Amino acid sequence: MKLAIVGGTGDQGIGLALRFAKAGLEVIIGSRDVKKAENTVNLIKNMLKDDNINICGTTNSKAAEKADLLIMTVPLQAQMGTIFSIKDHVGDKILIDATVPLDTCIGGKPVRYVNVWEGSAAERTAEFLKDEKPIVISAFNNISAASLTNIEADVDCDCLISGDNNNAKAEVIQLAEKIPGVRGIDCGSLENARIVEKITPLLINLNIRNKIKLAGIRITGL
Ligand SMILES: NC(=O)c1ccc[n+]([C@@H]2O[C@H](COP(=O)([O-])OP(=O)(O)OC[C@H]3O[C@@H](n4cnc5c(N)ncnc54)[C@H](OP(=O)(O)O)[C@@H]3O)[C@@H](O)[C@H]2O)c1
Repeated sequence: MKLAIVGGTGDQGIGLALRFAKAGLEVIIGSRDVKKAENTVNLIKNMLKDDNINICGTTNSKAAEKADLLIMTVPLQAQMGTIFSIKDHVGDKILIDATVPLDTCIGGKPVRYVNVWEGSAAERTAEFLKDEKPIVISAFNNISAASLTNIEADVDCDCLISGDNNNAKAEVIQLAEKIPGVRGIDCGSLENARIVEKITPLLINLNIRNKIKLAGIRITGL
């Protein structure tokens, strides 16, 4: 499976790329700037101390075109522009949206969520791409880049997955569970991203209050 990380040059994209490249998947890093994508590829090879991992860098548009499955890791203020740049290549593919609408996108605090009209960032993506019809899944919103890039350690949290296509969610659960320590959980329909996305500013708040970086969430009793 070829996996594109659109906006893959930031902290979250790098963290996911590290984990999936380490797990043996073919990873394509997307960026607005090819040079930045290539630099990120070199950074990831250095971090993994492995020149032979299957990873390359290109534009967001080409990454989306080449890949079977896409993960979008951009801040809310970049969401529409990024979607516009990939929209010709998303039809019928799984598009995982990890966007969290943090208040920082309008100059506010990372411990606050900012409401979007569609209900959640993932629903906003689905609405914007309703003609192209990708299978939009919300996932990886609550897993911190700090835990993903802590590459020698397992990631101690669950991945809460929302979407309207059961087969796609099963595929994303399998993908998430390629990250050691992570359990993927089907959280129901895409509208539940409204709840899941809001957990992230809470985790950021807990990190700040406790002077840590690795706060995560586990669901018990399942
Ligand atoms: N960081 C975390 O721990 C974490 C955890 C959970 C969820 N998330 C969510 O995951 C998403 C990505 O987080 P991140 O920390 O990786 O974000 P980031 O580093 O701020 O940005 C990721 C990439 O998005 C592109 N980008 C940034 N601002 C842009 C703009 N104004 N216009 C167009 N493109 C822009 C850049 O790629 P190019 O310059 O290469 O195009 C950048 O490298 C966010 O929605 C965040 O809330 C993050």
